[in-house]
Amino acid sequence: MSSEKEIVLSGIRATGNLHLGNYYGALSKFVKMQDDYDCLYFIADLHALTTNPQPEALHENVRNILAEYLAAGVDPDKATIFVQSDVPEVSEMYLLLNMHVGIGELLRTASFKDKARKQLGIKDDSQDIERQIIGNETNKRVNAGLLTYPTLMAVDILIQKAHKVPVGKDQEQHLELTRRFARRFNSFYGVDLFPEPENFNFGDHAVKVPGLDGSGKMGKSEGNCIYLVDDEKVLRKKVMRAVTDEGPKEPNQPISQPVENLLTLMELTTAPEIVQSYRDAYADCSIRYGDLKKQLAEDILKVTTPIRERYHDIRNDDAYIARVVRQGAEKARERAAATLKEVREVMGIRKFY
Ligand code: TYM
Repeated sequence: MSSEKEIVLSGIRATGNLHLGNYYGALSKFVKMQDDYDCLYFIADLHALTTNPQPEALHENVRNILAEYLAAGVDPDKATIFVQSDVPEVSEMYLLLNMHVGIGELLRTASFKDKARKQLGIKDDSQDIERQIIGNETNKRVNAGLLTYPTLMAVDILIQKAHKVPVGKDQEQHLELTRRFARRFNSFYGVDLFPEPENFNFGDHAVKVPGLDGSGKMGKSEGNCIYLVDDEKVLRKKVMRAVTDEGPKEPNQPISQPVENLLTLMELTTAPEIVQSYRDAYADCSIRYGDLKKQLAEDILKVTTPIRERYHDIRNDDAYIARVVRQGAEKARERAAATLKEVREVMGIRKFY
């Protein structure tokens, strides 16, 4: 791997199988970037611990996502594939970087507020979450790992000195924090250790893949996902049941959110002229949602079927998976150890012996 190439790093939390949001926001970019960049892709098992998974489930999820990376075409001969916890340098640097991270900035992070609200069972998002956490009178707690999640993510990126981080739109605030922490560290110690990483997209904006329920983004906890490994029948059924509206009532009316969501999904999978024909059909009130959904299911299956077919074989090949992650861990550790050494030196952690 040439060190002149820009460094790309990204990861996915080990919390279940991957859905189309993960695919278009991240994984499809991983595959496209591996020829032109020096790429490192990992499974974020330490980040998954913030929601206290069952140990067996965590381990299986790491295996599943590894198999999904490989099945989708991430090539271990081109990219470094590793498991986050196989690089213990990350955990040490997480402690060190936390000394330069403000509790206030972590408390204000949108993803933290969302998750904390869920953990405390608070539905009303107008309530002041900081007060609720500090003065929590129930026996529910928000763990400190969740609060410091952005520090750990910044360390994943900075310890590899990554320039580009292919992620979906929902991760942009975390990337912004990473840049801020990098600048702060560099300027506090008067060094130029960390580049400021950027998101990477092939289009001009970050991707947000909508769910099938007519509301927000596709997400594991929203129950609105199409998984890469959904079998054909399940997948078709999900798409056919996707929320729409009652149909346009008059020509050229604005497209409703649920239908716009389906068209957005279509834009990711289907030829542009076909998507346009459905937009035109909405405008002249001739749209038939049954046809749109059949087309969408067909086109999604063209993307997911080859991945699903390879997935099952790879997932059961323990020896292959072990080989891939051992080789990946070695490379990732070597680079992480070199950065950690610099960080310790810069911060004044030096040995007497
Ligand atoms: P995670 O596991 O939630 O999601 C993995 C990737 O999938 C993208 N994604 C989406 N993109 C578009 N539309 C959607 N509906 C959608 N849902 C998920 C996410 O943007 C992400 O790119 N914090 C990260 C994992 C992480 C990481 C890192 C990423 C840990 N350390 C360092 C990059 C670099 C996360 O929770 O992603």
